[in-house]
Amino acid sequence: MAHRSMHDLLAPSLSIDWPNMPVVRAEGTRVYGQDGRVYLDFVSGMAALPLGHNHPDVVAAIREQAGLLIHAPVGVYQYDVLLDLAEDLAAVMPGDIGMFFFGNSGSEAVEGAVKLARHVTGRQMVIAFRGGFHGRTLGALALTGSKAKYRHGYHPLPGAVHGRFPDPLRDGVSAAEAAERALKDLDEILVHVVAPEDVAAIIVEPIQGEGGYVPATREFLLGLRERADQAGALLIYDEVQTGFGRTGEMFVAQHFGVTPDVMAVAKAIASGLPLGATASTPEIMRGWTPASHGTTFGGNPVAAAAARATLRVLREEGLPERARRMGAAATQALRALQSRHPEISEVRGPGLMIGVEFGERRPDDAAFTKDVLRACLDLGLVIYPCGIAGSVLRFIPPLNVSESDLSQGIEILDHAIAKASGR
Ligand SMILES: Cc1ncc(COP(=O)(O)O)c(C=O)c1O
Repeated sequence: MAHRSMHDLLAPSLSIDWPNMPVVRAEGTRVYGQDGRVYLDFVSGMAALPLGHNHPDVVAAIREQAGLLIHAPVGVYQYDVLLDLAEDLAAVMPGDIGMFFFGNSGSEAVEGAVKLARHVTGRQMVIAFRGGFHGRTLGALALTGSKAKYRHGYHPLPGAVHGRFPDPLRDGVSAAEAAERALKDLDEILVHVVAPEDVAAIIVEPIQGEGGYVPATREFLLGLRERADQAGALLIYDEVQTGFGRTGEMFVAQHFGVTPDVMAVAKAIASGLPLGATASTPEIMRGWTPASHGTTFGGNPVAAAAARATLRVLREEGLPERARRMGAAATQALRALQSRHPEISEVRGPGLMIGVEFGERRPDDAAFTKDVLRACLDLGLVIYPCGIAGSVLRFIPPLNVSESDLSQGIEILDHAIAKASGR
């Protein structure tokens, strides 16, 4: 049978760009293509598969729950698996964060966070950062500042102002100086653009994902914490991509030791089932009055069961700590590649959230990155780019990746860079 084209059936607004590979099934770190080849998968479901594909415990939990109850809208019904999940999550969240609104995606988790902040503060403006990605629904899109093309055609968007995110490589300065410059920019925004008393929230990805795997610093986050407190605004961390052990801690909030008021989490939470959560302290959440936010599918029992199984495996196998160790080894190996391939300008990021940047963010750097990706695919590794200029590789294997798979991935990357640069 001739293979049908996505282009005839799915909206062209989707980024059907890379590699758009016809796939049949997947297991662990392997995807099985329709071409009969087996590929090593370091896309990890766009950071949504911390345990790799189809982890047996997750599959068993999904099967069991599907046989009991697939859907029962929260509020009309109450089911233990969701309350159990809320308790499990509360045990790993930073600070006093322990109350949740469950939705179905990262964008929804962000929307919830902003609605919560607007509702409880009675203010409407949000400060976000350039380079940040928070989703594509209209409210989340208003905060996304990574690429103007995502926003093109959708103005006006709900009230948000974008500050400068610290990016030492872009600025050619130290991390401390980049953070200082970014905080100065925020102070100017609060003087010239938005009065502090109009600010409902400051939202930040503590490590920018789509924008290029650019980590903030503790000083920058402390600066945001201080300014949010002074303004009477809430500090929101978008940990949709960074959460659930990827950076070597359960959340980046713990990595930097700076706790927000609200968090948006999704992606890795349920090993690939659609689930997200807006999380905050009971004190803040209690100001979100009944019926001011709601959902049909959010907190779905099957997704909740998958999330409980995911959290259990993360905890029992010590995967955040493992991500730290494996990440340190991977970073070292990737920096060794950097010493042999001058095209690599930086290897950065904690745990297994590693960005490998090529060149200086010029258009030909994006083209080179694409050549590397293509060569990786030819050699059997699927990997995905990011970055404001499309010149960063996201090196994000599952957190339980074996040492041999990790080495194989790095070896393939080594050959792919050599091939792309004609060496
Ligand atoms: C940091 C961050 N926030 C929000 C989102 C949006 O999540 P979703 O695509 O599940 O709506 C993403 C998706 O990539 C993300 O990386």
